[in-house]
Amino acid sequence: MDIKTIILAAGQGTRMRSSKPKVLHKVADRALLQHVYDTSAQLEKNSIVIIYGHGGELVKQQLSDLKADWVEQKQQLGTGHAVQQAEGFINDEDKVLILYGDVPLLKKATIDKLLENVSQQSIGLLTVVLDDPTGYGRIVRATDGSVLKIVEQKDTNDQEKLITEGNTGIIATPGNLLKQWLSKLENGNAQNEFYLTDIIEMAVNDGIKVKTNQAESVDEVLGVNDRSQLAHLERVYQLEQAQQLMVQGVTLRDPSRIDVRGKFDQLGQDIEIDINVLFEGSNTIGNNVTIGANCCIKNAIIGDDVVILANSIVEDAVVGERSRIGPFARLRPLAKLASDVHIGNFVEIKKSTVATGSKINHLSYIGDATIGSKVNVGAGTITCNYDGVNKFRTVIEDGAFIGSDTQLIAPVTVGKGATIGAGSTITKDTEEGQLTLSRAKQISIKGWQRPVKNK
Ligand code: UD1
Ligand code: CA
Repeated sequence: MDIKTIILAAGQGTRMRSSKPKVLHKVADRALLQHVYDTSAQLEKNSIVIIYGHGGELVKQQLSDLKADWVEQKQQLGTGHAVQQAEGFINDEDKVLILYGDVPLLKKATIDKLLENVSQQSIGLLTVVLDDPTGYGRIVRATDGSVLKIVEQKDTNDQEKLITEGNTGIIATPGNLLKQWLSKLENGNAQNEFYLTDIIEMAVNDGIKVKTNQAESVDEVLGVNDRSQLAHLERVYQLEQAQQLMVQGVTLRDPSRIDVRGKFDQLGQDIEIDINVLFEGSNTIGNNVTIGANCCIKNAIIGDDVVILANSIVEDAVVGERSRIGPFARLRPLAKLASDVHIGNFVEIKKSTVATGSKINHLSYIGDATIGSKVNVGAGTITCNYDGVNKFRTVIEDGAFIGSDTQLIAPVTVGKGATIGAGSTITKDTEEGQLTLSRAKQISIKGWQRPVKNK
């Protein structure tokens, strides 16, 4: 049987108090709906239908990469009505899986178990036992434990209210049976809605067994209705990722103070990460890398034995092995450092390559530059790469020594082994191996006196 996943995502999400549709809110920088999609996309022989409604055009636009059929539910008349909209996509032989677009952390393993319960004689229902099941549809069971029906919160009697087993909303059924039941749904209930949950009693009446299973943790089946629940699931997700990192051999000084919004393409051995580090995008990190507190690392490739000291930012950059970055350094897009490079505090590097063994240790801006090997760039040096309209390159050849507080007015080349005297403004290419400096001559004014305060 092929799988047909129907993701319900038409709800308004009023309690988010947001101008954007709920399913576009993000956990770890991925839309809620994207999480649900990504999980169901792991199922084999599966095609996906997304039911959208409120603000749906925006959802479609922002998630246009999803390989799914989009079906509009013009009016939100209930979960059963939502599934009815997808009827044209359901084949009799399909196993139909119903997911919610606002339940982002459901795991594939849980779905697999649910789907195993689907046959022509049985359907699968994912339930959850809660200390406080208020708001949930209740699972009503017979004395022999078999499921009889689901009663929605607003339709419960006093006894049913005491049932702690709730409906997660996640259901799997054969396509042929589902279509029969959908056609019989009515809305004569407390909310005048077409409840999908009514198919449970129909199944029982048709002699179909309702088999239930549960997720490993309650967090897997929690939906997002407000910002506080969104924040809760973000924490759950982050802790899970931290656990995974530790399983893979990464030392986290505090697993509750790391955020990963993205993925690792590669992770070396014996990586050590201090507190409050944020990873975004796709990162590759080599062996024995140490990352200090409060660093932001985004789309970076970091070689073996690199040390990144506290409060540094690395974005779309490459850091060669044994290099040392920070504290308080900023590597901007297209910074490419070879091995054994030192980038120190308050140094910003953009669209520049720095070859092996070079040092830029204090308070510098290096933009649009090509820096050779074993170059020493003194404190406060700036590449003046921008004339207000165009950008120009600075080239500093191997072994050059740039004195502190030098301005290099690009385009300009500092020759191999050249020395630039401190405080120079370099506007022309400098000769290899020579000392170049541009500096007003120092004078002393004899007999000069300090001004005194006016009386
Ligand atoms: C539903 C279940 C309830 C379950 C609870 C779990 C029904 C009748 N009730 O209740 O048994 O305990 O979920 O959270 O199924 N949606 C649409 N179109 C609609 C209505 C809803 O797409 O017309 C979508 C929503 O976007 C959401 C999901 O369906 O993703 C659930 O809707 P919601 O209104 O939250 O259902 P509940 O009343 O909470
Ligand atoms: Ca809900």
